[in-house]
Amino acid sequence: MQKKINCVILASGNGSNALNLIRKFHTDTKDADAVEDRNITCNINISAVVSNIENAPVIEKVRLAAPDIPVFFLPYASVSEREYFEKELESIIRKYNINCIVLAGFMRILSKEFVSKFHNKIINIHPSLLPAFKGKDAIKSAFDYGVKYTGVTVHYVTPEVDAGPVICQEVVKIEENDTLESLELKIHDMEHKIYPAALKKIFA
Ligand code: GRF
Repeated sequence: MQKKINCVILASGNGSNALNLIRKFHTDTKDADAVEDRNITCNINISAVVSNIENAPVIEKVRLAAPDIPVFFLPYASVSEREYFEKELESIIRKYNINCIVLAGFMRILSKEFVSKFHNKIINIHPSLLPAFKGKDAIKSAFDYGVKYTGVTVHYVTPEVDAGPVICQEVVKIEENDTLESLELKIHDMEHKIYPAALKKIFA
């Protein structure tokens, strides 16, 4: 039997990527389109979701969409909370036999020690064509710069922020009539295509 790949999603905000991955991979989804869409040979399982922000929309959204997926709030607002956060996260990883840590809008930096311990097991999605426009507000930075092409990158997480080996990358063209808002929509649409594709590429 194919080995089950258990993932934990880490998210701090809106949660559209977390929700999309759950829609694609959660076995109990009632969503007919998602079931049709799912690659049945791919044994990816969303085992848990962790947020570092107590009232982040992602928490409520996941609870509503998939009440059987455990959702944890682990405080990590400032660096002083990182040690506690990582310790608790490690117990969740052990408890659910996690094979992959999926960052989906997780707005905190994991320590070098944690990243090294889970080498090649942590992946992230970034809304630009890395190595261009690293860091926060990447969509706006690309738009303000006036580049004609930007995009989305899924990469392994290394101790250096937004710098690990690229797993998947897709281009998004910035048209003359694009606004920041229309570009954000295009980028998020692309994210929702390539994050599931990246997971399938790694594990299918
Ligand atoms: C996405 O743009 C992702 O690329 C970046 O953070 C954003 C998270 O959006 N890392 P959401 O919370 O998944 O809607």
